[in-house]
Amino acid sequence: MMERAYMQFPSKLFLDGGDPEETRQADKLLKKAGYHGLDGQTTNPSLIAERSVAVHHGEGAGGKVTTAHAVSFYRETVREMARVTTGPISIQVTGGPDMTAKEMLSEARERISWIPNGVIKFPCTAAGLTAASEFCEEGPVNMTLAFSQAQAAAVYSATAGHGRSPDGKPYDVFVSPFVGRLDDRGENGMDVVANILAMYRKLGDGHVRVLTASVRTVRHILYALFLKSDVITIPFTVFKEWAVPPKDSGREPFILPAADFIYDVPGLTDIAYEEMTLDLDWHEYDTSHDLTTAGVAKFWADWQTVVG
Ligand code: G3P
Repeated sequence: MMERAYMQFPSKLFLDGGDPEETRQADKLLKKAGYHGLDGQTTNPSLIAERSVAVHHGEGAGGKVTTAHAVSFYRETVREMARVTTGPISIQVTGGPDMTAKEMLSEARERISWIPNGVIKFPCTAAGLTAASEFCEEGPVNMTLAFSQAQAAAVYSATAGHGRSPDGKPYDVFVSPFVGRLDDRGENGMDVVANILAMYRKLGDGHVRVLTASVRTVRHILYALFLKSDVITIPFTVFKEWAVPPKDSGREPFILPAADFIYDVPGLTDIAYEEMTLDLDWHEYDTSHDLTTAGVAKFWADWQTVVG
């Protein structure tokens, strides 16, 4: 049988969210426009917490549930998502700022069994990198809360020993630079995506894929497509704005960047490319970043709004 030829984007498209209904709708919108559907999904503790509160609202304890219930809610949510997409679905570890690498590994080993297409999301912290350097031998990983080129270099080096699945396919390794959170404080987050892509393309072996995350605008999507970021994960509100342009906007659904596209957002400070190599032990890179620290604390605080 002839395989149907679908239109393709220069990047894989994931949905970023905690609601399987959004996953279904985004997939449908892509299919309706002639694409083959979503390529995957990312989730995080804040997004799952937000949906859990919405679902359990009105129940006792102000919508709070036990930890076991919250974890099983997370599991059922990604199971529903896995009915829509067979592409990678990121499941994050949900520990606090003090969570050790050992604790992350134990959570990762349990959560990877939830669905056949799971990917474990670890933070770009020392504990997260330690856990990922071991876990990447046994499953796919997504290093989240990346804000610097040095963190991406550390991810590259920490995951150099990534393994293969029983069918011989190398396990996915993603790094997720968070562009919106840098923009929020006046730094050009898309520069970090461009810099990591340039560094990996110049010096790397292609084993780490750049997943543009914390996307806030259609312009973020367009520039990420222009740069050919390996993957872009998009929240449903922005996805819809891109897929279904406002009436009278004159814009086509799923507009693509022009060949001479220029990403020019006034008021953002440039983040310069740094010359570095990818061949150091990961501990030798400076992986500290205040937004990573703040991000871990925020994920934990949001998760705590669910359990109690
Ligand atoms: O999955 C990562 C992404 O959801 C973070 O986005 O908007 O919370 O910075 P944001």
